[in-house]
Amino acid sequence: MSGVLSLSYLIGSVSFIVGLKMLSHPDSARRGNLYAALGMTLAIIATIFLYKNSEGLPLGNYGWIFGGIVIGSVLGTLAAKKVQMTAMPQMVSLFNGMGGACAAIISIVEFKHLIHTGANIADQPIFTATILLGLVIGTVSFTGSMIAFGKLNGNIRDKIIPMQQIINVGLLVLILIFVVGMALGFIGGDPMTMMTVLLILSTLYGILFVMPIGGADMPVVISLLNSFTGIAAAFGGFIYDNNVMLTGGILVGSAGTVLTVLMCNAMNRSLVNVIVGAMGGNKGGAAASSSSGGSYKEITPSDLAVLMMYSKKVIIVPGYGLAVAQAQHTCHELEKLLSNNDVEVKYAIHPVAGRMPGHMNVLLAEADVSYDKLLEMDEINPEFSQTDVVLVLGANDVVNPAAKNDPASPIYGMPILDVESAAHIIVNKRSMKPGYAGIENELFFQPKTSMLFGDAKDVLGKLISEIKIIAS
Ligand code: TAP
Repeated sequence: MSGVLSLSYLIGSVSFIVGLKMLSHPDSARRGNLYAALGMTLAIIATIFLYKNSEGLPLGNYGWIFGGIVIGSVLGTLAAKKVQMTAMPQMVSLFNGMGGACAAIISIVEFKHLIHTGANIADQPIFTATILLGLVIGTVSFTGSMIAFGKLNGNIRDKIIPMQQIINVGLLVLILIFVVGMALGFIGGDPMTMMTVLLILSTLYGILFVMPIGGADMPVVISLLNSFTGIAAAFGGFIYDNNVMLTGGILVGSAGTVLTVLMCNAMNRSLVNVIVGAMGGNKGGAAASSSSGGSYKEITPSDLAVLMMYSKKVIIVPGYGLAVAQAQHTCHELEKLLSNNDVEVKYAIHPVAGRMPGHMNVLLAEADVSYDKLLEMDEINPEFSQTDVVLVLGANDVVNPAAKNDPASPIYGMPILDVESAAHIIVNKRSMKPGYAGIENELFFQPKTSMLFGDAKDVLGKLISEIKIIAS
């Protein structure tokens, strides 16, 4: 490898690490993303023009390479520009799946190369196992992400398959036997046929392990699939002895794994359960989504304006509906107005609020809400008991007491924001319909709760006008 190529790989790897670090704060996140993208561009350009194989020949195939780059860039740019903010989670799943598919295709191509050299695959067990593991993990990531895409997009419903845990564990064991057996040579037969069987088993596993997961547990699966893609790319780095691919893959894989563990903790779920596809689903959801027939109170924007202006402390709980309404700027305006009138305002951020990790942080950062005002669940929960008004803005599952009180509920065990201990709870949404988990929320029927119906942006606009009248 030429010195310049090695240097560009080093710069690329450093840019990924610096970029990832910068992603941890909203102020630096955009620049971090840009640095990592520039590092990746440098690594790709250097590979295309400077790489030489063992016989000293350049890469060639420039028509295919640049054709692919142009088509991918045009499609990616159009998709990213056109996507609605609320469809972002689906797009992230789709892009993640594409990464998994690339890793799987690399493994297929390299497995064919290995066979065409005439070598016995069992003579190189480590290399063969690396290729096969890249194939399995990449395929699971691709098929799993496609199912996740369908679920987030509302095209695929949660489906509990009879004996699904046994089937999933069986598939995992079979996959393991195939990988070890092919690498060590105790599974004979035509290698391409064996690889095709492994591909089919991995495809089935990817579909079956994501299929039953639903309710409120999708965030865990999404971050797990993300880490799978990173790990699969890292195997690609091993196959090609390519440091930048290895570093990038390991960074995505480890960041995804850390996120998965955090999400599991946030949802009070076990990782083993996710891997065998045993979580969530609609086990209690269908029954629970029927209306309780209970009565609820309503509040008008003008009454709420008075209540808020006489409050010392208000906590805003943002949820998916805030993103749907694109009400983040109006919400920030309300916060500033209340603060100017000596009302203390904070935001309570649940780890799975919205539809993607950090969704609420990104949304509120876009409206320039100060990061210090966003408090994580553990930090804010003790504060609700000293709060006059909690304004739940387009959130539902993350404040549903069924997570604490109803063992039959699909969200049972998930820690929630403890809004019930505040003096007044105001819930803004458009109707009494359930949230993502498909279950009714008894919070709406409690004596301290009042419903403020309407689109979050419209309602906040009216509330702001009323507060301005009182303040003037
Ligand atoms: P949800 O439980 O989905 O509730 C959102 C609520 O917003 C709905 O009940 C809806 O009620 C309301 N809404 C929709 N559009 C609105 C608008 N324009 N104005 C006002 N309200 C509006 O949201 P959440 O509390 O944020 O919880 C997130 C859920 O998604 C959890 O179950 C979580 O597990 C799941 N999930 C999260 C992720 C990640 S990584 N965060 C990924 C996948 C799934 P109406 O229709 O009546 O208005």
